Amino acid sequence: MAIATRTVAINPAFLQEIKDDHHELRQLLHHTAAMLNRPPWMQMEYDRLVDLFTKLRDQLAMHFSLEEAYGYFEDAITVAPHLSKRAEALRSQHFELYSQLCSLVERAEQLLYHEAPAIALAGLAEGFRAFSFRLQDHELCESDLILEAFHDDLGAGD
Ligand SMILES: [Fe+2]
Repeated sequence: MAIATRTVAINPAFLQEIKDDHHELRQLLHHTAAMLNRPPWMQMEYDRLVDLFTKLRDQLAMHFSLEEAYGYFEDAITVAPHLSKRAEALRSQHFELYSQLCSLVERAEQLLYHEAPAIALAGLAEGFRAFSFRLQDHELCESDLILEAFHDDLGAGD
């Protein structure tokens, strides 16, 4: 009896293209960080902060959806099992990262609607820093995987 195990693989060219094209996501990350890092004497514009967070959440959802639709795929045959486990782990991080950002959006909304004290802003900034580091690490690991997958493809052509 043959048992087919589905494995996760990536299409390195498409995945790289999605990363290269996502300028808006990078811009929103930059603007949100800049707003949260403003000096304490500057009045925080919570409506603008919530607007940035909401746009960032929507862009991240689109970025991950594109990656999952065109950059990742499932195959019954694996040509590179050593890459497959990492691809699967990285793809599953999308949901975790998106959930983490959604909870930050909620915290920003609580500040806007005075459901949280103004002092909670420091915690929100810290939470955003942690999220940014995690996202950056995820992107770096995907870039490493893209390079290795390209290398494997070239090696397979020898
Ligand atoms: Fe990703």
